[in-house]
Amino acid sequence: MVIENTIPQLKSIFRHHKDGDSVRILFVCLGNICRSPAAEGVMKTVVASDPARNSWVIDSAGTGGYHVGELPDDRMRVHARRRGLELTHRCRKVSALDFDEFDLIIGMDASNLRNLKRLAPTVDDEKKIMPMSAFFSIATRYDYVPDPYYEGAEGFELVLDLLDDACLNLRDSIDEALGK
Ligand code: 4NP
Repeated sequence: MVIENTIPQLKSIFRHHKDGDSVRILFVCLGNICRSPAAEGVMKTVVASDPARNSWVIDSAGTGGYHVGELPDDRMRVHARRRGLELTHRCRKVSALDFDEFDLIIGMDASNLRNLKRLAPTVDDEKKIMPMSAFFSIATRYDYVPDPYYEGAEGFELVLDLLDDACLNLRDSIDEALGK
Protein backbone atom coordinates (compact mmCIF):
# COMPACT_ATOMS: atom_id res chain seq x y z
CA MET A 1 0.00 0.00 0.00
CA VAL A 2 1.37 3.45 -0.85
CA ILE A 3 1.80 5.21 2.48
CA GLU A 4 0.51 8.76 2.64
CA ASN A 5 3.62 10.52 3.93
CA THR A 6 6.07 8.76 1.60
CA ILE A 7 6.77 11.78 -0.61
CA PRO A 8 7.14 14.25 2.31
CA GLN A 9 9.62 11.87 3.98
CA LEU A 10 11.59 11.52 0.73
CA LYS A 11 11.55 15.31 0.24
CA SER A 12 13.00 15.71 3.72
CA ILE A 13 15.64 13.01 3.11
CA PHE A 14 16.75 14.65 -0.15
CA ARG A 15 16.32 18.30 0.98
CA HIS A 16 20.03 19.05 0.49
CA HIS A 17 20.29 17.04 -2.74
CA LYS A 18 21.62 18.96 -5.74
CA ASP A 19 21.46 18.05 -9.44
CA GLY A 20 24.23 15.56 -10.18
CA ASP A 21 24.48 14.32 -6.58
CA SER A 22 24.23 10.56 -6.30
CA VAL A 23 21.14 8.93 -4.79
CA ARG A 24 22.30 6.21 -2.39
CA ILE A 25 19.89 3.43 -1.47
CA LEU A 26 20.49 0.41 0.79
CA PHE A 27 17.99 -2.48 0.85
CA VAL A 28 17.92 -4.54 4.04
CA CYS A 29 16.39 -7.91 4.98
CA LEU A 30 17.33 -10.57 7.54
CA GLY A 31 19.73 -12.89 5.70
CA ASN A 32 20.81 -10.69 2.73
CA ILE A 33 20.59 -13.76 0.49
CA CYS A 34 16.95 -13.60 -0.73
CA ARG A 35 14.88 -10.41 -0.60
CA SER A 36 17.39 -7.55 -0.33
CA PRO A 37 19.89 -8.75 -2.96
CA ALA A 38 16.91 -9.29 -5.27
CA ALA A 39 15.71 -5.74 -4.51
CA GLU A 40 19.23 -4.49 -5.26
CA GLY A 41 19.24 -6.35 -8.60
CA VAL A 42 15.77 -5.18 -9.61
CA MET A 43 16.51 -1.56 -8.65
CA LYS A 44 19.84 -1.57 -10.50
CA THR A 45 17.96 -2.71 -13.63
CA VAL A 46 15.29 -0.03 -13.20
CA VAL A 47 17.95 2.66 -12.79
CA ALA A 48 20.20 1.37 -15.60
CA SER A 49 17.58 2.21 -18.23
CA ASP A 50 18.27 5.95 -17.69
CA PRO A 51 21.81 7.39 -18.12
CA ALA A 52 20.81 10.34 -15.89
CA ARG A 53 20.80 7.90 -12.99
CA ASN A 54 24.20 6.31 -13.56
CA SER A 55 25.55 7.93 -10.38
CA TRP A 56 22.97 6.18 -8.19
CA VAL A 57 24.49 3.82 -5.62
CA ILE A 58 22.43 0.74 -4.83
CA ASP A 59 23.46 -1.94 -2.34
CA SER A 60 21.97 -4.45 0.10
CA ALA A 61 22.77 -5.90 3.52
CA GLY A 62 21.28 -8.14 6.20
CA THR A 63 20.50 -7.60 9.88
CA GLY A 64 21.75 -11.16 10.54
CA GLY A 65 25.26 -12.35 9.79
CA TYR A 66 24.62 -16.05 9.05
CA HIS A 67 25.64 -15.99 5.37
CA VAL A 68 28.31 -13.28 5.14
CA GLY A 69 30.38 -13.58 1.95
CA GLU A 70 27.91 -15.89 0.20
CA LEU A 71 26.13 -15.31 -3.10
CA PRO A 72 22.33 -15.04 -2.92
CA ASP A 73 20.34 -18.21 -2.24
CA ASP A 74 20.38 -20.57 -5.27
CA ARG A 75 16.59 -20.56 -5.46
CA MET A 76 16.43 -16.77 -5.58
CA ARG A 77 19.15 -16.70 -8.22
CA VAL A 78 17.26 -19.21 -10.39
CA HIS A 79 13.97 -17.32 -10.16
CA ALA A 80 15.71 -13.99 -10.83
CA ARG A 81 17.65 -15.45 -13.78
CA ARG A 82 14.37 -16.54 -15.38
CA ARG A 83 13.48 -12.84 -15.46
CA GLY A 84 16.84 -11.90 -16.95
CA LEU A 85 18.35 -10.78 -13.65
CA GLU A 86 21.79 -12.07 -12.57
CA LEU A 87 22.29 -11.65 -8.81
CA THR A 88 26.00 -11.38 -7.92
CA HIS A 89 25.88 -9.55 -4.57
CA ARG A 90 28.01 -10.99 -1.74
CA CYS A 91 26.18 -11.11 1.58
CA ARG A 92 27.20 -8.60 4.22
CA LYS A 93 25.81 -7.48 7.56
CA VAL A 94 24.35 -3.98 7.89
CA SER A 95 26.32 -1.66 10.17
CA ALA A 96 25.84 1.72 11.87
CA LEU A 97 28.35 3.12 9.32
CA ASP A 98 25.79 2.47 6.57
CA PHE A 99 23.82 5.41 7.94
CA ASP A 100 26.69 7.66 6.83
CA GLU A 101 26.97 6.02 3.41
CA PHE A 102 23.32 5.93 2.33
CA ASP A 103 20.49 8.47 1.94
CA LEU A 104 17.74 5.91 2.19
CA ILE A 105 17.68 2.55 4.03
CA ILE A 106 14.74 0.36 3.07
CA GLY A 107 13.61 -2.61 5.19
CA MET A 108 11.62 -5.51 3.78
CA ASP A 109 9.49 -6.34 6.85
CA ALA A 110 8.60 -5.07 10.33
CA SER A 111 11.37 -7.03 12.01
CA ASN A 112 14.02 -5.58 9.66
CA LEU A 113 12.66 -2.09 10.38
CA ARG A 114 12.82 -2.64 14.16
CA ASN A 115 16.42 -3.85 13.91
CA LEU A 116 17.40 -0.91 11.70
CA LYS A 117 15.84 1.60 14.13
CA ARG A 118 17.85 0.03 16.95
CA LEU A 119 21.03 0.41 14.87
CA ALA A 120 20.48 4.03 13.77
CA PRO A 121 23.15 6.19 15.48
CA THR A 122 21.02 9.36 15.65
CA VAL A 123 17.38 10.46 15.44
CA ASP A 124 18.16 12.07 12.07
CA ASP A 125 19.65 8.79 10.82
CA GLU A 126 16.46 6.99 11.88
CA LYS A 127 14.55 9.19 9.42
CA LYS A 128 16.45 7.53 6.56
CA ILE A 129 14.64 4.24 7.26
CA MET A 130 11.56 3.39 5.18
CA PRO A 131 9.51 0.22 4.60
CA MET A 132 9.58 -1.29 1.10
CA SER A 133 5.79 -1.49 1.39
CA ALA A 134 5.67 2.33 1.23
CA PHE A 135 6.29 1.84 -2.49
CA PHE A 136 3.76 -0.94 -3.18
CA SER A 137 0.98 -0.05 -5.63
CA ILE A 138 -2.47 0.55 -4.14
CA ALA A 139 -3.85 -2.84 -5.22
CA THR A 140 -1.05 -4.86 -3.58
CA ARG A 141 -2.43 -7.29 -1.01
CA TYR A 142 0.73 -7.26 1.16
CA ASP A 143 2.11 -4.67 3.53
CA TYR A 144 5.61 -6.22 3.77
CA VAL A 145 7.91 -8.38 1.61
CA PRO A 146 7.42 -11.92 3.00
CA ASP A 147 10.51 -13.99 3.78
CA PRO A 148 10.69 -16.73 1.10
CA TYR A 149 13.46 -18.74 2.82
CA TYR A 150 11.18 -21.52 4.12
CA GLU A 151 8.72 -21.25 1.21
CA GLY A 152 8.46 -22.92 -2.18
CA ALA A 153 8.87 -21.51 -5.68
CA GLU A 154 5.76 -19.35 -5.36
CA GLY A 155 7.33 -17.51 -2.40
CA PHE A 156 10.29 -16.46 -4.55
CA GLU A 157 8.04 -15.44 -7.44
CA LEU A 158 5.88 -13.39 -5.07
CA VAL A 159 8.96 -11.56 -3.75
CA LEU A 160 10.11 -10.73 -7.29
CA ASP A 161 6.61 -9.53 -8.27
CA LEU A 162 6.44 -7.27 -5.20
CA LEU A 163 9.95 -5.93 -5.84
CA ASP A 164 9.31 -5.24 -9.55
CA ASP A 165 6.32 -3.11 -8.59
CA ALA A 166 7.95 -1.38 -5.61
CA CYS A 167 11.21 -0.51 -7.40
CA LEU A 168 9.38 1.30 -10.23
CA ASN A 169 7.33 3.25 -7.67
CA LEU A 170 10.49 3.96 -5.65
CA ARG A 171 12.20 5.44 -8.72
CA ASP A 172 9.12 7.56 -9.53
CA SER A 173 8.72 8.67 -5.89
CA ILE A 174 12.35 9.80 -5.69
CA ASP A 175 11.93 11.70 -8.97
CA GLU A 176 8.85 13.40 -7.54
CA ALA A 177 10.66 14.25 -4.29
CA LEU A 178 13.56 15.72 -6.31
CA GLY A 179 11.15 17.73 -8.43
CA LYS A 180 11.99 15.85 -11.65
P1 4NP B 1 16.23 -13.02 3.44
O1 4NP B 1 15.82 -14.55 3.76
O2 4NP B 1 16.12 -12.28 4.78
O3 4NP B 1 15.20 -12.57 2.46
O4 4NP B 1 17.63 -13.06 2.92
C1 4NP B 1 16.47 -15.30 4.74
C2 4NP B 1 17.65 -15.94 4.44
C3 4NP B 1 18.29 -16.72 5.40
C4 4NP B 1 17.73 -16.84 6.65
C5 4NP B 1 16.55 -16.19 6.97
C6 4NP B 1 15.92 -15.42 6.02
N1 4NP B 1 18.38 -17.66 7.63
O5 4NP B 1 17.81 -17.80 8.73
O6 4NP B 1 19.47 -18.20 7.37
